[in-house]
Amino acid sequence: MLTEIKALATELQPRLVEMRRHFHAHPELSGQEHQTAAYVAGVLSSCGLQVTEEVGKIGVVGELEGTGADSRRLAIRTDMDALPITERTNLTFASNNPGVMHACGHDIHTTVGLGIAMVLSQLRDRLPGNLRFLFQSAEEIAQGAGWMVADGAMEGVDHILGVHVFPSIPAQSLGVRYGALTAAADDLEIIIQGESGHGARPHEAKDAIWIAAQVITALQQAISRTQNPLRPVVLTIGEITGGRAPNVIADQVRLAGTVRSLHPETHQALPNWIETIVNNICASYGATAQITYARGIPSVQNDPTLTQLIEESAVEAWGRDRVQVLPEPSLGAEDFAMYLANAPGSMFRLGVGNPDRANPPLHHPSFMADESAIHTGVVTLAYSAWRYWQHID
Ligand code: NI
Repeated sequence: MLTEIKALATELQPRLVEMRRHFHAHPELSGQEHQTAAYVAGVLSSCGLQVTEEVGKIGVVGELEGTGADSRRLAIRTDMDALPITERTNLTFASNNPGVMHACGHDIHTTVGLGIAMVLSQLRDRLPGNLRFLFQSAEEIAQGAGWMVADGAMEGVDHILGVHVFPSIPAQSLGVRYGALTAAADDLEIIIQGESGHGARPHEAKDAIWIAAQVITALQQAISRTQNPLRPVVLTIGEITGGRAPNVIADQVRLAGTVRSLHPETHQALPNWIETIVNNICASYGATAQITYARGIPSVQNDPTLTQLIEESAVEAWGRDRVQVLPEPSLGAEDFAMYLANAPGSMFRLGVGNPDRANPPLHHPSFMADESAIHTGVVTLAYSAWRYWQHID
């Protein structure tokens, strides 16, 4: 089966490159991927898949029913959105949509998803079970996966696989990760309420700016002294506002930030931990705090069995030296985690680096993906999918 999948993917590669360049030249922002979604639906229909549009607002679902007796359904997820970045690559197929760019490789993901559908639909009579393709909108704003799940896209799905490009891994190689791949990302807002007064008479006021400084310092220090250092937490205050005049003590300061963590127990404990520290500091100086802790997306925790499925399939396809087992997770966030709340799964990192040039990071205006990665992605996922019904109990 690997030979057949590779041969079909090789034959399709020029067409897939053409598709990818089309997506790259026509990027659409999160929640606005109408043309991309219509294109995806057209290709899936032409492959004979049963297609449902407008799932999770703009998402597309394609069902490929196998001919075997295995009733289990495997899902493959790809995302379609681009970023509000002005492209600076000089590619002949650079963005035609000013200020919008596929700088996170979702054009590659969409193409890989379509490539798998094109390959496996030609091998349908040998597919033991059913495959569901999820093309989601709005990953960059961490919303699309939740919309898909709310619309029932995970109903009847037993396991799910996902892929994300990675510029620091060379093209034609890939990385799998056992356990945590990305972090939980939560939003934090703290409004400190003190009391205004004359800048020369601090004893008659409650200085919210000085108290805010204590709060920020205390939170950073408390991470190092109260959190298990083997379970990382990053707390970044990215916004601070308060005060109106140099000689007037500020009565209110607003802090806003992001909180990243990997371990589920840490993630669970964070809101109370932050509240206790902030409230105690504010109380000791007579101020109050209003704390809003909003849970964002959880950490992507890759299932070991499904990760092994991808790893073994990739090693068989490409050889051991092209398959890395990634030693470290990232503290970035990925809404693939929303699917994993419904079914176990695994997401891997597809190398798109080109050893002959600089490889700027994701979300950079000069980010470029080596297109040979499309073939690697299609074969790895198509073969992993086929092996799923043989190797996963
Ligand atoms: Ni991305």
